[in-house]
Amino acid sequence: MYTENIERAKEQFGKLLEEQLKRVEVMKNQGDFLNYKELDTIIIGVCGGDGIGPAITGQAQRVLEFLLANEVASGNVEFRTIDGLTIERRAAENAAIPPVVLDELKECHVILKGPTTTPRKGDPWPNVESANVAMRKELDLFANVRPVRIPEQGIDWTFYRENTEGAYAVGSKGVHVTNDLGVDFTVVTTQGTERIIRAAFEYAKANGKTRVTAVTKANIIKTTDGKFLDIFKEIAKEYQDITADDWYIDIMTAKLVDEKRRRDFQVLVLPNLYGDILTDEAAEFQGGVGTAGSANIGKRYAMFEAIHGSAPRMVEEGRDIYADPCSVIRAGAMLLSHIGYVEESEKLYKALDICTITEKKLVITGRDTGATSAEFADYIMQTMKKM
Ligand code: IPM
Ligand code: MG
Repeated sequence: MYTENIERAKEQFGKLLEEQLKRVEVMKNQGDFLNYKELDTIIIGVCGGDGIGPAITGQAQRVLEFLLANEVASGNVEFRTIDGLTIERRAAENAAIPPVVLDELKECHVILKGPTTTPRKGDPWPNVESANVAMRKELDLFANVRPVRIPEQGIDWTFYRENTEGAYAVGSKGVHVTNDLGVDFTVVTTQGTERIIRAAFEYAKANGKTRVTAVTKANIIKTTDGKFLDIFKEIAKEYQDITADDWYIDIMTAKLVDEKRRRDFQVLVLPNLYGDILTDEAAEFQGGVGTAGSANIGKRYAMFEAIHGSAPRMVEEGRDIYADPCSVIRAGAMLLSHIGYVEESEKLYKALDICTITEKKLVITGRDTGATSAEFADYIMQTMKKM
């Protein structure tokens, strides 16, 4: 019974395994992290994306160009605008990232990216893979670093979310074995796990953090989460000064709302899907996903983005000029420190705090009752001029 269905499923599964084993070989031969200090010119690609993306990303670019004016003038830094990562283009070409756009991205060293629309069932778009997920895979951006800070509550968390494997590795390639049976796959590799866990411990070591926590569901998802946890425990032995502990995702989700315990967590390292979920929860305490920035870091490329969506309705209603650019500007601050402009980055973080928390001379409401994104970017730049 169902022999044909099973054979077809096996064939599909076989192809997935071949692809993943190829990826393992690539990871085995991977070089070290790019050293930006050795480059003559650091190329920053600015990729607007969909909806409010181009409007807010354009403002973030103005702020970065202001901070790096001398570097741009001397040719140490170059900005490149990358158009074409729009849902219309991706739908027309039936590609998660149109090949021409991918080539342009690959000519940059770091990328500042606006939000991109991910088609869902029932949308007018074909079922193309998420541009985010595709970019993480294509550029091998394996570490998704998401800081969440609420100083007045003593919260200072840094999430190291694995970004290329887990439930996302072949998330759009599950198998409908029959009309009644669907199967998805979760992927873990030694190389992919080692590099994310090492990145988390190295970050902790370099930043004076004393605790790294792994989050899995290894009691149930025994093979993949089990492997992730085993590797975590092995690598932890190399970092004797850092406390390493592990929690299951369900209780961790609960602990993040436990005001007595949550401030004790520092660096958290976790597989892709748990990282996706837990970082939205964490960002909510800080003021919502719109307040968080996210760094997607690989050995050769790095991409920085806001974690909010593309808000197409704001564009339809002509309100995109009033969209809040702060989250993508925050992503810009992460980009600056990543490429070595630490002072400029700190200045920008400080200005963001002044403009959004302490002074708040302008407010963004998302409509004509508040400031435009351009006015807000001006406000941030004026604030930095006074520093
Ligand atoms: C995120 C987002 C993405 C993800 C979506 C937009 C594909 O939720 O960056 O967390 O699931 O990773
Ligand atoms: Mg998410």
